[in-house]
Amino acid sequence: MKKKILDLIKKKNRSKIVSLTAYSKNIATILDNFCDIILVGDSLGSVLYNYKSTREVSLDTMIEHSKSVRMGIKKSLMVVDMPHNTYRNSKEALKNARKIVLKTKCDAVKLEGGKKIIKIVKDLVKSGIPVMGHLGVLPQSDRSFKFKGKKTSERNKILNDAKLLESAGVFSIVLECVETSLAKIVTQKIDIPTIGIGASNNCDGQILVIDDLIGLNPIDVRFIKKYTNIRKEIKKAVSIYSKDVRNKKFPLKKHSY
Ligand code: KIV
Repeated sequence: MKKKILDLIKKKNRSKIVSLTAYSKNIATILDNFCDIILVGDSLGSVLYNYKSTREVSLDTMIEHSKSVRMGIKKSLMVVDMPHNTYRNSKEALKNARKIVLKTKCDAVKLEGGKKIIKIVKDLVKSGIPVMGHLGVLPQSDRSFKFKGKKTSERNKILNDAKLLESAGVFSIVLECVETSLAKIVTQKIDIPTIGIGASNNCDGQILVIDDLIGLNPIDVRFIKKYTNIRKEIKKAVSIYSKDVRNKKFPLKKHSY
């Protein structure tokens, strides 16, 4: 296993793992100083492209954004989401994961699901491709985004899936919208780090979508904390710019050749 990944696993029970999504170079450059993991998430489908679901995101779109993100990362672990319908069997998964790794130079790929994808995960790991798991709410296949872990059957399935993914060789698991006490149990029962989003502070780490954190994406969901209102800042700047242009205050001589 790559040293970067082993170092990440060692953080379990020692220090919290910080993770964010990025879809482009300039943002990745900023996040790289603060993050352990930068994920090129297929959430870009809804955040950037206004798709109804992440199911519409293509492999080529993921690759192009990841190439941009790669240019902004020096130290963080870079993970790329494998989009919907690109890992329906081992052969397809291997072909597409190899393409992602080759073209984007990412450190790992992320796949959604548990028991159903165990053989695929094993085959990817066996062929040298590090894999991150994703349990709880699965945007590529779930119709509802309600939190998971209310029913006993759901709780047992998530815990069992986490153990299966760990033995298949994933180095970490994202827990999306998983009930607080279940997140704690899963985190305690496995030896690899869990990264939560809407899954309480019982996880080993936390991930958020960067556009949500900075208030660029105008959505309001319980698990998001907006650390700034970047829309307000952009509006202020653009408003001054438009006045300057209209009042002939920009460009000045010093901005001209
Ligand atoms: O696509 C994404 O951004 C994700 C995170 C929400 C974990 O999978």
